Amino acid sequence: MRVAIVGKGGVGKTTIAGTLARILARRGRKVLALDLDPNPGLGWSLGMEPSEIALPAGIAVHTEGLPRPLAWKLAEGTTAAAELERYAEPAPDGVTYLCPGKIWGASFLEEHSLFAVREIVRGTTEAGWDIVTDIDAATAVSCGRFLEFAEQLYVVTTPQRASAITARRLQDLLIAWPLTMLASMSQGEADHDCLAPKARIPFDETVKDADRRGVPLIEAFPDSPVVAAVDELATQLLEADAAG
Ligand SMILES: Nc1ncnc2c1ncn2[C@@H]1O[C@H](COP(=O)(O)OP(=O)(O)O)[C@@H](O)[C@H]1O
Ligand SMILES: [Mg+2]
Repeated sequence: MRVAIVGKGGVGKTTIAGTLARILARRGRKVLALDLDPNPGLGWSLGMEPSEIALPAGIAVHTEGLPRPLAWKLAEGTTAAAELERYAEPAPDGVTYLCPGKIWGASFLEEHSLFAVREIVRGTTEAGWDIVTDIDAATAVSCGRFLEFAEQLYVVTTPQRASAITARRLQDLLIAWPLTMLASMSQGEADHDCLAPKARIPFDETVKDADRRGVPLIEAFPDSPVVAAVDELATQLLEADAAG
């Protein structure tokens, strides 16, 4: 199962992605939490110390003369499992965390790095992993052609209009992908036009409290209604996955 959480900054993507990854892992799934947001976040949300690990050049190699999507392959002699072993980091609850690099890292979003991620995602999918990707809107668009890393794109909105504008842009730009709307920080407001959510994550003050304390929500406030809503989302995802 491959899910990406996408949307405007500040809508709650990283909170949802980190909590979802841990809930899936607690249910016994092998989970890769993939951090494609160039700003720090998913590692924090999972409960990890910040790290500077990035995918170096050379994992994916380019062959001249082939169409672009086919031109990149993992380098001879390596496998997705081997690269994951080398560059991924363990996170709480048995989640595996991978980040191709942050804004200050030279490799972030360079072609070799994205294709390396794509190949690692392909390999781990075949090996039965769940992949939860945290990705900001701009990055999602700039790497739309790499969206094989997700079969399910959850577009997160809040009651704020700006988040709906971003969601509509994503609908226009990512036309080939089925987008599912997810209402975050919801306090009973009316839905945005044409953006009816499939699921709702309530507003809950404890999220900010956990954030300020630097403790993952699922540890600081396991009874938060936000954890319950993400748990419900996990159930829906697993049911859909089991139904094929
Ligand atoms: N359901 C929620 N209720 C209240 N505050 C939230 C909720 N989800 C996230 N927040 C807060 O909103 C801010 C942005 O959340 P974050 O998950 O980092 O969003 P994004 O990854 O989309 O930028 C953080 O301060 C976080 O604590
Ligand atoms: Mg974020």
